[in-house]
Amino acid sequence: MDKSKRKAIIAGNWKMNKTPSQAKALLEELIPMVKDADCEVVACVPYVDLAVAVETVKGTNIKIGAENAHWEKSGAFTGEISTDMLKEIGVEYVVLGHSERRQYFGETDETVNKRTKAVLAAGLIPIVCVGELLWERKCDITDEVVARQVKLALYDVSAEDVKKTVIAYEPVWAIGTGETATADQAEEVCAAIRATLAKLYDAETAEAVTIQYGGSMNAGNCDELLAKTNVDGGLIGGASLVAEKFQPIVAAASK
Ligand code: 13P
Repeated sequence: MDKSKRKAIIAGNWKMNKTPSQAKALLEELIPMVKDADCEVVACVPYVDLAVAVETVKGTNIKIGAENAHWEKSGAFTGEISTDMLKEIGVEYVVLGHSERRQYFGETDETVNKRTKAVLAAGLIPIVCVGELLWERKCDITDEVVARQVKLALYDVSAEDVKKTVIAYEPVWAIGTGETATADQAEEVCAAIRATLAKLYDAETAEAVTIQYGGSMNAGNCDELLAKTNVDGGLIGGASLVAEKFQPIVAAASK
């Protein structure tokens, strides 16, 4: 297995944090710190921060992502944001199906699939989040749960498009809890995701897909996690909100 075929991506998911002026300040701090990174560096930020974020990182190696997108092109969907709106302002990535959206906002595997197809059709890169609850891990159905989420998210997505898709394995019990999956646990599930992709498509396609780990990743545990064969990067919550905490993770992925 040749990890170098895949693009390592370290993406911050800021969640509901940072006003536009705070977003500008954090990105300005981050720009010189990650300018020599040998991996893709992405900041996924709240909708209202997107325009200033895109403007701030212009000419740098940092890419900007949104935290969700609607599947329809336009219409009567009060409060929603379309892929065309994101594309026009220069967004490149979109986080989809995050467990917080599944848990608090009624996100389902079906809507994740619709969003994934819309994001790909717009030429944006989806970061599709999957992961098991603690209860599901205790019942020893992690691989089944995650395989189901992956298959449903990718229904009707072509092999060509899946190669552009990023999958983020985020065990729900490890998000914002300070409890990280061990590097072996992360590797096991990321490898199972790749095996699912190989079954759905083929081995060559599966090998091309970037699979991130997310869940309390930080400067202290990122080396071990990112060294794993099937862990191609990270989706970082808390540690992405402070430049000094995010930079070491980018450095670890650049090794
Ligand atoms: P934390 O890094 O805060 O655990 O969040 C992970 C996450 O949910 C990223 O999407």
